[in-house]
Amino acid sequence: MKNGLEDVIAAETQLSDVDGQAGRLIIRGVSLDHLVSTATYESVAALLLDGLTERNFDPAELGRWLGEMRGRLFAHVTALDPDLLALPPVDAMRALIARLPDGEDFDAALRLLAAPAVFLPAILRLQAGEGAIKPDGSLSQAADILRMLNGRLPSNEQTAALDAYLVTISDHGLNASTFASRVIASTGAGLTSSVLAALSALKGPLHGGAPGPVLDMFDAIGTGENARDWLVRALDRGERLMGFGHRVYRVRDPRADALKQALRPLASSGQVNRERIDLADTIERAALAILKQRKPDRPLDVNVEFYTALLLDALGFPREAFTAVFAVGRTVGWIAHAREQSLNGRLIRPRSVYIGPLPRVA
Ligand code: CMC
Repeated sequence: MKNGLEDVIAAETQLSDVDGQAGRLIIRGVSLDHLVSTATYESVAALLLDGLTERNFDPAELGRWLGEMRGRLFAHVTALDPDLLALPPVDAMRALIARLPDGEDFDAALRLLAAPAVFLPAILRLQAGEGAIKPDGSLSQAADILRMLNGRLPSNEQTAALDAYLVTISDHGLNASTFASRVIASTGAGLTSSVLAALSALKGPLHGGAPGPVLDMFDAIGTGENARDWLVRALDRGERLMGFGHRVYRVRDPRADALKQALRPLASSGQVNRERIDLADTIERAALAILKQRKPDRPLDVNVEFYTALLLDALGFPREAFTAVFAVGRTVGWIAHAREQSLNGRLIRPRSVYIGPLPRVA
């Protein structure tokens, strides 16, 4: 038995490959660095879902289809009950997605791609005591999310930064949430069920729940001079440094650099707090040096969540919503894997080793 199924191969996929030694991510034959500089959310969604549903996700049409679907889904957020709005954003979003019908077809997939983009901005505005803003189907999904969140059209740099984020995190091998999606798909339960299971797996701090705590760490450290002492004390208390380490990568997570790069146009146009970027730089260098010293046998480097925190903060998302934004981008990967599993896989049903007591009387 391998604890945590480390290194166990549990699926064949044409969707993405994570090379943990080389620090390389390939999504359907395209390397992340190329994809992130050329693709939009719509084009990466069309790439991932190509051939996996009965109707083709035409990249030229997908923007319009998503826009129409966002408009239709807005009815779900016009009268939300206070109990739902009292939940953390990711849980409120999960509750709303749970109201969508299950299905395996093109429409079910399209609905699930559009739903988080409508639900999350509406939940955040209603939680802040403001009115939800109706989608504008003529905009790209990234631009419309930012407009529905902040109440004004985003700048080109902001739209490009969110697009880069959504592309960067669209799929990532057999991570915990994607595995959950495939397990559910293998039972034939439907795409909504797969996405709900995946979202539930994502929200844990060891997976998609880390970027909020990364920002908390920046705030707690405050200034570059405090970085080293603060990090040493945190490790002395037995804590893990959020935004560092990975189950598969033994080198730098390539998604961290993609997001660092995506922050540059925002920084050079004065749309992100320069001091925070400098502080992040200092913390990253200090943490890498300390981790190398403390864990010489376990290479621990920066992961995607470190720069996610800076980027989503700069775009106006509150930190308690970072995991839900991750889900907005990753839903396409969950759907693609669920469909691939349904088309080619078998019921996933591993076995366990019984280590409990035996009956006294045979
Ligand atoms: N800070 C300090 N020590 C760490 C860290 C960290 N961030 N990550 C791993 N270690 C240590 C860990 O304590 C252990 O040491 P020892 O062998 O002395 O007990 C050793 O490294 C191996 O850890 P592990 O728990 O076996 O590693 P894992 O593969 O199960 O964990 C991880 C991967 C991401 C859960 C872990 O690195 C972690 O908790 N990181 C912090 C949370 C975080 O940033 N999560 C986002 C992950 S990236 C998003 C995604 O792709 O899902």
